Amino acid sequence: MTEATRRLADGNEIPLLGLGVWQVPDGAECVNAVRWALELGYRHIDTAQAYGNEESVGRALRDSGVPREDVFITTKFYPRRRADPAAEAERSLRRLGVDHVDLYIIHWPEGGPTWAWPGMEKARELGYTRSIGVSNFSVEELQAVTGAASIAPAANQVQFSPFEYRRVLLEACERSGVVLEAYSPLGTGRHLGDATVTRIAERLERTPAQVLLRWCVQREIPVIPKSTHRERIEENAQIFDFTLTGEDMAALDALDRTRGTDVARERKWW
Ligand code: A2P
Repeated sequence: MTEATRRLADGNEIPLLGLGVWQVPDGAECVNAVRWALELGYRHIDTAQAYGNEESVGRALRDSGVPREDVFITTKFYPRRRADPAAEAERSLRRLGVDHVDLYIIHWPEGGPTWAWPGMEKARELGYTRSIGVSNFSVEELQAVTGAASIAPAANQVQFSPFEYRRVLLEACERSGVVLEAYSPLGTGRHLGDATVTRIAERLERTPAQVLLRWCVQREIPVIPKSTHRERIEENAQIFDFTLTGEDMAALDALDRTRGTDVARERKWW
């Protein structure tokens, strides 16, 4: 069951599980990964202008035969000087071969958190996207954009896992009705060998990846693990048929290394 969703503040529904395609080169590898995910029941694909693989995502969507309306597609505005978010959204739509995306987010707060937002609102008004949001925004950056916005950001996509458990940011998002989305939930693979994660996985007869992903979805945090291997894409979707105990959740929470900091102090990620 991969259809569990969360409602965004604007009423749109985001599936809790999506496939991320960061660092997947445009071409067969990306087309295959996205097509497999759709065959295996994923209904949420997360790409970006900066990834350079929107055409492959679009091709896979068409090849899969899954109706466009059944799939939640996110892409991200690549924030460069003088780039117009609405014009760039239109280019993304052409590459993806769709008439709208479901979520369009500012990839990171390049040049400050607010300048691109009016263009994001315009992209929504023009029907290029159903929802708009941000990524890699700190509490302060989120407050700045929300204060200046006609339409508040629906989501803030950040690196998030038990090891990057940004409680301060998460609480700020929850308070202001912004859904925090988790990218790199496996720590780009680095967290899979952790002793606590492995111990819980063994007891539950699950895999470390499933434990890390379950930790997010059990909190209703949308999560977008990346894989280009069919069996891993399948494994990562088997997270809705088991539960972590309160004790498991607490043991995983204790792995946090961010100690209350948020993304602003971790700019090393991009
Ligand atoms: P690959 O794409 O070769 O399958 P994250 O989502 O945190 O960025 O992590 C992505 C990394 O974790 C990729 O290197 C991916 O490798 C690997 N990965 C994804 N799912 C699994 C899994 N179920 N088991 C082991 N490694 C995985």
